[in-house]
Amino acid sequence: MMESRRYEMVIFLRMLNDSCLCKLSWKCRNSLLWMYGRWIVLLNNITNMNDWTWNTQSVMATLNASCHSEWDRGEMDYYATPPSATKKLLENETFSKFILEPACGEGHISEVLKQNWHEVLSSDIVDRWYGDTLDYLNDMNFFESWHWDIITNPPFSKSQEFVEKSMDIIRDGQKVAMLLRIQFLEWVKRNAMFKEYPPKIIYVFSRNIRCAKNGDFKNATGNASTYCWFVWEKWFAGDPIIKWIL
Ligand SMILES: C[S@@+](CC[C@H](N)C(=O)[O-])C[C@H]1O[C@@H](n2cnc3c(N)ncnc32)[C@H](O)[C@@H]1O
Repeated sequence: MMESRRYEMVIFLRMLNDSCLCKLSWKCRNSLLWMYGRWIVLLNNITNMNDWTWNTQSVMATLNASCHSEWDRGEMDYYATPPSATKKLLENETFSKFILEPACGEGHISEVLKQNWHEVLSSDIVDRWYGDTLDYLNDMNFFESWHWDIITNPPFSKSQEFVEKSMDIIRDGQKVAMLLRIQFLEWVKRNAMFKEYPPKIIYVFSRNIRCAKNGDFKNATGNASTYCWFVWEKWFAGDPIIKWIL
């Protein structure tokens, strides 16, 4: 009985996916998938199918959804920052009382900031039940100019755009701190940006930082990259300092 119910459900979701979901936007489809997930949980409770583990990934697997590459990289490059990494930044740098976290994920950075008496405005392009849902790079009117410091771990594939946008919108003397891989220093495409906006200080983590794909810290394996906190101050004109932190 349980197996046939599960089979029916899988067929139904696949049919729905093939017939219409692929025509919808990625964001819209994710919302629908989420609603189906809730429906599955409901069914699960009713039929006591205790072997079903709810998360978006299992729905994706059931649907054989076509956005696998996005999912494999973490949904919209979602890799949560371990709280210890943010604590380390705050031990070494001071920031304004009010802070913008424009790619907040589930709030792993924001929560540490709040614990340290900062007021935080958090947003993300994906609604992860934390902060506002805003596209930092394209929701023009909202992020035009900013008089708070900005701290985030930006999406890997758009890190340069995040740095440039942040430096464009903040005012003189304000700070931007971004958790980035050390390789961010490389690449000819970034040369002009570093000339215009040299970081003031770069904190290199000597230990391995395990950012958790899709926020799953239990299964976070880390990678070979070295992570750093890059800290910019608007119109700082000197040479960057490098410090090593543990
Ligand atoms: C590496 S994760 C970091 C999440 C969070 N800052 C943390 O450290 O735990 C990058 C986040 O950027 C979000 N993101 C990607 N593109 C975005 C955009 N254009 N505007 C706002 N957020 C975006 C993703 O949804 C993802 O949550």
